[in-house]
Amino acid sequence: MPDTRPRRTFAVISHPDAGKSTLTEALALHARAITEAGAVHSKGDRRSTVSDWMAMEKARGISITSAALQFAYRDHVVNLVDTPGHSDFSEDTYRVLSAVDSAVMLVDAGKGLEPQTLKLFRVCALRGIPVITVINKWDRPGLSALGLMDLVEQKIGLRPTPLTWPVGEAGDFRGVLDRRTGEFVKYTRSAGGATRAPERRMAPEEVEEVDAEVWSAAVEEHELLALDDADHDQERFLAGRTTPVMFASALQNFGVAQLLDLLLDIAPAPHDTAGVDGSVRRVDDDFSAFVFKVQSGMNAQHRDRLAYARVVSGTFERGMVVTHADTGRPFATKFAQAVFGRDTTSVETAGPGDIIGLVNASALRVGDTMYVGDAVKYPPVPSFAPEHFMTASAGDISRYKQFRKGIEQLDQEGVVQVLRSDLRGDQNPVLAAVGPMQFEVVEDRMTHEFNAPIRFSRLDYAVARRTDAAGAEALKGVRGVEVLARSDGTQLALFVDEWRAGKVARDHPDLLLEALPAGGA
Ligand code: G4P
Repeated sequence: MPDTRPRRTFAVISHPDAGKSTLTEALALHARAITEAGAVHSKGDRRSTVSDWMAMEKARGISITSAALQFAYRDHVVNLVDTPGHSDFSEDTYRVLSAVDSAVMLVDAGKGLEPQTLKLFRVCALRGIPVITVINKWDRPGLSALGLMDLVEQKIGLRPTPLTWPVGEAGDFRGVLDRRTGEFVKYTRSAGGATRAPERRMAPEEVEEVDAEVWSAAVEEHELLALDDADHDQERFLAGRTTPVMFASALQNFGVAQLLDLLLDIAPAPHDTAGVDGSVRRVDDDFSAFVFKVQSGMNAQHRDRLAYARVVSGTFERGMVVTHADTGRPFATKFAQAVFGRDTTSVETAGPGDIIGLVNASALRVGDTMYVGDAVKYPPVPSFAPEHFMTASAGDISRYKQFRKGIEQLDQEGVVQVLRSDLRGDQNPVLAAVGPMQFEVVEDRMTHEFNAPIRFSRLDYAVARRTDAAGAEALKGVRGVEVLARSDGTQLALFVDEWRAGKVARDHPDLLLEALPAGGA
């Protein structure tokens, strides 16, 4: 029987060290996916969230893929989609955000809004993903609550609408004022945050003397906020104009249950989605899904390839034969598994909002659509404007075959964009990246996974514009521009800088030279 409980599918976005892993574990703890948070892994074990979650899965037997953590809360199923910390600067993270309906922006109370948080936030804004802001580490000295609200408003341009307000300044976290009910939610520290932290709700008149002073300060600020148009408004939140705010300490499990409640109460559920032709697929129509992440090398024994897809409509049943929209070919999921945790038989079905992992998925690429019944093709996952370019060549010519294969694989996974031209030939593709860290990933994987050392040589380009076949033809031989074809067929005109791009555009006003969405700094 398909599980028809309502879904919430979200991601946590944050700058490294803001507490994403801690919060993830705390959420799973509160959702009773696990019974005890236990010792938080040491930083050294946490190179990547992938291995982190796998360790968690082993230790606690909870449902985790390397792409999503799934747990039950109240009468809902919650999917927390992982945004890998180590490739925060690559397109990978941006693509993952195409699979969620909302995001939680985690802010370190001591540090405020950090560069990576801002970048990821911009991607959410671009994709129209509503954002809930969680001010974390309130148990430690940090900025003032009102100061943080100013930062959110100024730096990200959203009106903060706090749903809870801290009682006690940063470093003296006694609890929160629930701005919707006016109650005091008093927190009690539990040893190392190892169990669900006890909370006690009390009416304002029940607030005890020990808390009276900090309580009245919180009430005063709460009233100020109300006068300042900072109350939650569901419509404005969904329209991406406001961000509800909460205060928490993930480490002590303070505020974590409230975050879960909030996700269920206000975060959007999976919704009907338009295909490229504009026709709308309703969530309860036949099965359809799109691939947002492809990963290989998960299992060192056999180089399997996993495609992670988000179910958009209908019910996925293991074994069903679906149509791969991009080739029109049938794709059998008979031998594919829905990989949720170790217990591969535990998920035989999946519904809208869920993430399925398909093995042996060599035909599937990031952005591909699968469906049953009426044909549908979802818009491609946007690729961002590359700003860093390298030519790549095989470091060891006797390993050229492996080199080719590796580049093809990394291209399909979307690790970098691969560009070619007749002029340059096939041997030395140009690799294009949004952030330079992507090249490090390429180098590492080519060396270790494909055993094909790679040599890079930097190209002096920094700006890419989308053009078309006519543009490619007309720009041949024009000074200061080179046109290369990306593997998805897009023609990219590359320039050393914006000035040069502008000049060529002015000199050739009839040609298509379109800016791509900026993902970089
Ligand atoms: P990340 O995944 O976003 O990179 O952050 P992570 O959870 O690893 O947290 C980074 C550090 O911040 C960790 O400390 C963690 O214990 C701490 N932390 C997370 N949430 C809170 C909080 O609410 N309050 C306080 N005081 N600290 C918090 P670490 O010393 O770097 O690592 P560890 O050795 O404790 O794991």
